[in-house]
Amino acid sequence: MAREQWKSEFGFLLAAVGSAIGLGNIWRFSYLAYEHGGGAFLIPYLIALLTAGIPLLILEYAIGHERIGSAPLAYRKISPHWEWLGWWAVCLVMFGIVLYYSVVIAWCLDYFIYAFDLTWGQDPDRYFFKKFLQASDSPGEIGAIRTPILFSLCFIWLVNWWVVFSGVQKGIELANKILMPMLLVLTVILVFWALTLDGAMDGLKAYITPDFSKLNEPKVWIDAYSQIFFTLSLGFGIMIVYASYLPDKANITGTALMTAFINSGYSLFAGIAVFSVLGFMAQAEQKEIGEVVSQSIGLAFVVYPKAMSLMPGGNFFGAVFFLCLVVAGFSSAISIIEAFVSAAVDKFDFPRKPLVTVVCLAGFFGSIIFTSQAGLLWLDIVDHFITHYGLVLVGIFECLVVGWLFDIGRLRDHLNRISSVRLGKIWEILIKGFVPLVLIIILVGDLYNDLRQPYGGYSWTAIILIGRDWLLLTLIMAFFLANRPWRTHNHKLPGRSDCQ
Ligand code: PHE
Repeated sequence: MAREQWKSEFGFLLAAVGSAIGLGNIWRFSYLAYEHGGGAFLIPYLIALLTAGIPLLILEYAIGHERIGSAPLAYRKISPHWEWLGWWAVCLVMFGIVLYYSVVIAWCLDYFIYAFDLTWGQDPDRYFFKKFLQASDSPGEIGAIRTPILFSLCFIWLVNWWVVFSGVQKGIELANKILMPMLLVLTVILVFWALTLDGAMDGLKAYITPDFSKLNEPKVWIDAYSQIFFTLSLGFGIMIVYASYLPDKANITGTALMTAFINSGYSLFAGIAVFSVLGFMAQAEQKEIGEVVSQSIGLAFVVYPKAMSLMPGGNFFGAVFFLCLVVAGFSSAISIIEAFVSAAVDKFDFPRKPLVTVVCLAGFFGSIIFTSQAGLLWLDIVDHFITHYGLVLVGIFECLVVGWLFDIGRLRDHLNRISSVRLGKIWEILIKGFVPLVLIIILVGDLYNDLRQPYGGYSWTAIILIGRDWLLLTLIMAFFLANRPWRTHNHKLPGRSDCQ
C-alpha cells in the first residue's frame, strides 16, 4: 500500500509543531527559566537550540524523509543491526511517556472543569495532594484508583484513538489544523489578561532580569540541553515518522528551522503569562517572587489555582489556562501513538485501524497505574528514567549510527537538493561529534548524581523496580520486535537518494 502523505507542507509543519509544543513548554520551561537565572537562562537555552536541537531535528527529518520510514524501518535501512534502536525509541514513548503524559492531560481536564467554580477552595495545595490525588507516601502503596482521573483518562484515550484512527491526513493533520490555532488564541488571551494583573510587571522583571552568575553552574547547561531535546520531541522517532509522510520534494531544513523557532517562541511567549501571574501572586500575598515559584507540577496545580482564586474573573482565566494545557498535550500525545503505529504497520503490515484500536486500548490500560494514589510518584520516577537515560541514550546512538555508519554527506546532499536553507559541513561535525559529546556529558552527570543517592529520595527498591526495569522492559520489547521477521518488503526498498 502506498505510504500516506500530508496534504500540504504546512500541515506537516503544524503537526510537528503540535508534537513539539506540549505540557513541557508551559510549566517546565517557565520553571527552568526562573530557577536558572531568569533572562540569563535564555543564553544556554538558545545555544542548546542552535548547537544541538536544530541539528538533531534536521537529522530526524532527514532520516525519515530520505530513508522513507518510521524509526525502525529507517534505521534498518541504514544498518540492519540497528533496527532495535528505532524500536526502542518508539517503545519508550508508547509504553512510557504517553502513559503518564495522558494522565497529566487528564488532570488538566479535571482542573479545567474545576476552574469554573474554583473547586479547590482556599487551600489548593491540600486539595491537589490530599483530595484530588490522595497521594500515598511511597510508590509501593498503590492504594485505590482515583475515579475522577480515570474518567477523564477514558475521554483522553478516546480522543487519542479517534484522531490516530482517522489517519494521517484526516486525523492528525486535521486535528492539528484545529488545535494549533486554538492554542494560539487561548495563549494570546492568557498573556494579555495576565499582563493587566497588579504586580505583573514585577513578575516580568523576574523573568527577564538576567543573573549571569548562574551560567557558571554545569546544571544550568545540562538542564538547557535536556529541555531542548524534550521540547522538540527528539529521540523518540516522532519527527522521523512525520517527515516520512512528505513528498519527494519538501523544504526540510526550512521547516525544521520554523518548527524549532515556533516552538521556542511559544515557550517564551507563554512564559510572559506564567511570570505575570507569579508577580500578581507575590503582590497579593506580599511575598517575594522566589517564594511563590514552585517546581513543575506545583506551579500548574497549586500556585496557579491559588492565583485564580485571588484574581477577578479567575475562574474563566483558570478554564482558559487548563484548556491550553489540554490542547497542547493532545497534539503531542497523538504524535507518540502515530510513531509506534506506523512502525508496526511498516514492518508487520498490520491493518492500521484495528492496530490503532489495540494500541490505544493497551495505552489506556497501561495508564491506569498512574491514576492510582501512588500515580504521582510512579510518574516522577518513570519520567526521570525515560527522559534522562532513554532519550539521551537513543540520541547518542542516533548521532553515532547515522554519523559514522552511514554516509551522512549523502543525507546532507539530499537535503540541500530539496531545501531552501543549505546545510554546511558544520552540520556533519555537530552530528558526528558535538551532539553525542554533549549527550554523553549529560548522561555521565545524571548517572553520577543518581548513583550517589537514589533519585528524589525514593527507596533503591522503587528506583530499581520502577525506573531501571521500565527501561529494561522497553529495551527487551525492542529487541524482540527487531528480531521478528519482516512481513513486508519495505526494508528492501531504496531510499530517496538511491533512486537519483
Ligand atoms: N515536546 C513535548 C512537550 O514539550 C513532550 C513530548 C516528548 C511529546 C516526547 C512527545 C514526545 O511537552
